Amino acid sequence: MVETPGKYAGKIPQTIRWQDGELYLIDQTRLPGEVVEEQQRSVEQVRDSIKRLKVRGAPAIGIAGAYGLVIALRDKLHLDRGAFIEEMRKQAGYLESARPTGVNLRWALRRMLKHGDGLTDASPEQVLQALLAEAIRIHDEDRRLCRNIGKAGKALIKEGMGILTHCNAGSLATSELGTATAPMYLAHRDGVSFRVFVDETRPLLQGARLTSWELLQAGIDVTLICDNMAATLMAQGKIGLVMTGADRVAANGDAANKIGTLGIAVLAHHFGIPFYVAAPSSSIDHDTATGKDIPIEERDPEEITHWGGQQTAPDNIKVSSPAFDVTPNELVTGIITDKGILHAPYIEAIQARYPQNRATP
Ligand code: MRU
Repeated sequence: MVETPGKYAGKIPQTIRWQDGELYLIDQTRLPGEVVEEQQRSVEQVRDSIKRLKVRGAPAIGIAGAYGLVIALRDKLHLDRGAFIEEMRKQAGYLESARPTGVNLRWALRRMLKHGDGLTDASPEQVLQALLAEAIRIHDEDRRLCRNIGKAGKALIKEGMGILTHCNAGSLATSELGTATAPMYLAHRDGVSFRVFVDETRPLLQGARLTSWELLQAGIDVTLICDNMAATLMAQGKIGLVMTGADRVAANGDAANKIGTLGIAVLAHHFGIPFYVAAPSSSIDHDTATGKDIPIEERDPEEITHWGGQQTAPDNIKVSSPAFDVTPNELVTGIITDKGILHAPYIEAIQARYPQNRATP
C-alpha cells in the first residue's frame, strides 16, 4: 500500500493509476481523511474494491474492471489458447457481477472480451498484451470523453449561479475531469464565478466525503448541504441549475443515478429549475429500452443502520437500501454527452449521436 498524504493538494485527483504493470486505486472509503493508494494484486481484490466502493462511479469501475481482467489473466499464460480464452470469459463474468447498475463495467468488460476474441491466431501472451493495450485505451478515452462533456456543458454555467449536484460524478468517479463536474472545472478555469451546493448523499456520503473534497481542491466555491435541504434552497431561489451524473442512460433517456437523484429531479421540475444529466457514451445503453429495465443494486442494510462502526438504528429494524433510482426522461432538461447536449425526444437524439453504441458487442 502506498501512502500519499497531500499528494493531490490543489490538483484533480487521479483515482486509477496503471504504472509499471501494476494497478493502483485511491481507496475512496478512506477519503477525505486520508489519501491512500492501494495496489491491486489479484482479481479478487479488484472485484472486492469495486463491490466495497473503494473504487466507485460508473466510468471508474469500468476502467478498474478492464485492468482487473488483465490482472486475472497474467498468471494464466501456461494455459493453451482455448483454455486461456475460456478463462478470460469466466473472469470477465466474475468482475461484471460486482455491481449491476452502472453499465460501464459491463461495457468495458465486453469490449475487452470482443477484443480478445478477435485475435484468433494470437498466443495467450499476445492476447494479454492486447488486452492491456485495450484497458489503457479505455482509460485514455474516458479522459477525452470527460473533457468533451466539460466543453459541451460549461456554457450552462453562468456568472453568479448556484448549482446543485448529488453524489460524486467527479474526477474520483472517472479518469480525470468527471462528468457532472467537468463543466464546473472548465467554467472555473475560464474565470466564471459560481457556487456549487453538494448534497451529502446518504447513506455513504459520496457528496460530503468526495465531491466537496475534490471541488475544494480545485478552488471551487462549495457549500455542503444535507439531502433534505435541497427543496428549501430551491424555494429560496439559490439554485439555478442541477447537474448530476448517471450510472446508466437507457435508450429512451431515462437515467439511473445515485439514490435521491429522482427526488431532486422532481423538485427541480416543481421549481422550474433546469435538470441536466452528464453522461459519456460508455454510460448509454442501447440494449436497455427504458429505466424500468435497469437493474437496481440493493446494498447491505448495515450501510444504513451503522456509520463509522456505530449503530444508528434499532436492532432488527427492517431496511430498504436501493443504491440507485431512475429519473424518467421527461424530468431531464438535457443530457450532456461527449458529443454535445441531447434534448427530447431522447430515443431519436441518442440514436442520431450514438448509432453504434451497442453495450453488448
Ligand atoms: O454507488 P456509487 O458511488 O458508485 O454511485 C455513483 C453515482 O451514482 C455517480 O453519480 C455515477 O456513477 C456517475 S459517475 C461519473
